[in-house]
Amino acid sequence: MKILVINGPNINMLGIREPELYGKQTYKNLIEQISNHAEELGVDVDFFQSNTEGEIITAIQRAYFSNFDGIIINPAAYTHTSVAILDALKAVQIPTVEVHLTDVDAREDFRKISYVKLIAKKTITGKGFNGYLEALDYLCRDK
Ligand code: DQA
Repeated sequence: MKILVINGPNINMLGIREPELYGKQTYKNLIEQISNHAEELGVDVDFFQSNTEGEIITAIQRAYFSNFDGIIINPAAYTHTSVAILDALKAVQIPTVEVHLTDVDAREDFRKISYVKLIAKKTITGKGFNGYLEALDYLCRDK
């Protein structure tokens, strides 16, 4: 089983960006924790992070042609704006879990809208790094 973990803009800035919201751990720490959990579960994980909408869409399309079984995506700010990312996920029909580090529903009103939620099998918010681990568990259970 192969899972692609996609992170959107500014997730590479974890540890630096708003630590009171996103914590002090880095993107590298995030990758380490997901990789360790994937090893425990016996699944392959690949990682992709981009600050650019089009690159995220291309990564989703590549997941189709490379036969990935699941996608875990934190589209970050694009969650609230990107119909194009929603359409890419609709096109590939790969089981997808949406993850947010923070509880987006408890923040500004504009963060309450998620386009990706319309295609995601599950949305996990406000659990920090554990949300990604839970998403992996969910996709493995679903298989
Ligand atoms: C985020 C929430 C988004 O609203 C924000 O733009 C992010 C991160 C989260 O993980 O909590 O960049 O997706």
